[in-house]
Amino acid sequence: MEQPPPSRLITRRRLITAGGGLLVGGTAGLSYAAYIEPAVRLVVTDYHLTPPGWPDDFPLTIAVVSDVHAGGPNMPLARIEAMVDLVNSLNADLIVHLGDHEATHPFITEHVPPDAWAGALKRLAAPLGFYSILGNHDWWFNRDAVRAAVLRAGIPILENDALHLEKDGRKFWLGGIGDQIAYYIAPYTFRGVDDLPGTIAKMTTDDPAILLIHEPDIFVRVPTRISLTLAGHTHGGQINIKGLPNPFVPSQYGDRFRYGHIVEEGRHMIVSGGLGTSKVPVRFGVPPEIVMVTLGRH
Ligand SMILES: [Fe+2]
Repeated sequence: MEQPPPSRLITRRRLITAGGGLLVGGTAGLSYAAYIEPAVRLVVTDYHLTPPGWPDDFPLTIAVVSDVHAGGPNMPLARIEAMVDLVNSLNADLIVHLGDHEATHPFITEHVPPDAWAGALKRLAAPLGFYSILGNHDWWFNRDAVRAAVLRAGIPILENDALHLEKDGRKFWLGGIGDQIAYYIAPYTFRGVDDLPGTIAKMTTDDPAILLIHEPDIFVRVPTRISLTLAGHTHGGQINIKGLPNPFVPSQYGDRFRYGHIVEEGRHMIVSGGLGTSKVPVRFGVPPEIVMVTLGRH
């Protein structure tokens, strides 16, 4: 696959890892985690795979944007605009956003209004379209305004819904489910608006299927009918130091679904490290990323 040209914004993951390792500890490490990695770094992480159920002779590229969490210090409007330009330069067949549009932490230095970040995201353009789902932060904070801004920008929200898309005469399903922890009930207790069986029931032909989810935990229930599941939410733990356990992964399965390409019993899921931050505007060892998925033989 043709790679994006080097630019001020693109750094390959191996360079980040090497650079980050040298900075562990001390003031330099803290400065890197607060000012450099979350606010300057932006990587494109490539995955090439042909999971079960996906035809080898059906090439499809998907640019995955996740957890934008619009708001300074690390995701001001200018950075979102630059991210959009980068994603568009990848020339993917399809672009998706996996939820969590706004920053909600208490350290926001630049408030980006819903219509501003939605106006930037609406520039994401691909032949098969750009689709979004909503994440837990979209439900927990500013719920109505977030949904309204996304829809006003003309960005479809896949919420327990599936679309039958077509590329060069080949059809496939793109499904998205509602958020699994949309309503807070009590500590560690939530009520979701997800309907996995109902979403899959809308895939009424045998064509291959891709599923968009925000939290990866429901992957344990995703059937083999789905060739590839795309998830966000974890931010890769936001702080990830090789060899050390990460207590910040927001998943009941801990490190199991923290990040990356996960294969279990022949089922495939890619968990994006996302772009923005939650709780604190800090990242270390998990730079903001765009995921570029290439399915089938190219
Ligand atoms: Fe998030």
